[in-house]
Amino acid sequence: MKRDATRPSVSLSQLTADAADDAALDEIDAVASAAFDVPQFSAREELRRPWTRCWVAREERRALAFLIAWHVADELHVLNVATCPAARRRGLATALMNRSLEYAQQQQVRLILLEVRRSNRAAIRLYRKLGFTAMGVRPRYYSDNGEDAVEMVLTLDPATGAVQPGRDEIRIEI
Ligand SMILES: CC(C)(COP(=O)(O)OP(=O)(O)OC[C@H]1O[C@@H](n2cnc3c(N)ncnc32)[C@H](O)[C@@H]1OP(=O)(O)O)[C@@H](O)C(=O)NCCC(=O)NCCS
Repeated sequence: MKRDATRPSVSLSQLTADAADDAALDEIDAVASAAFDVPQFSAREELRRPWTRCWVAREERRALAFLIAWHVADELHVLNVATCPAARRRGLATALMNRSLEYAQQQQVRLILLEVRRSNRAAIRLYRKLGFTAMGVRPRYYSDNGEDAVEMVLTLDPATGAVQPGRDEIRIEI
């Protein structure tokens, strides 16, 4: 499918607790339900936390993808990024990750961190394309199936926002 996250019909916006009405929150939960086998997530609860940051990709006003992160001190921790199955491979997750990177650069963030299931090749490829490297493994991190989490990191120079080169501390791809 043609790469079209940059088409004018696709808009990216940050959703704040003040501006998030019920419909917007329900839309995010609907994307999460469609994207995850076991959604362990409520946009309503997440946005109540003052450190939560959320970006949404919409087309014709319909939410197709979202990213939720926690901004604490000089770290941005990406908790969830998800795209509706019907809208995948159009660059939406990449666009949202890049939007969160721009935010991190503006806020003098030093580390962008995330955990991903070891078996989630699609997500690992997405993160690798953006420059994330594998930092460590959390054994049996996911309680639903006991799967390991791979910890990934992108290091920024807080003064300039430049992405710092990194390298894997562990081997994750087979
Ligand atoms: C992972 C996920 C967020 C990717 O969303 P997306 O909008 O389709 O991603 P993009 O179109 O920006 O893809 C960027 C790159 O990621 C990689 N990628 C994405 N989906 C892939 C797949 N099914 N297989 C292999 N690589 C994949 C590719 O390298 C892709 O670039 P390309 O299309 O030029 O080859 C989406 O598959 C999803 O919602 N999965 C379920 C939820 C999830 O696992 N989230 C991540 C953990 S929180």
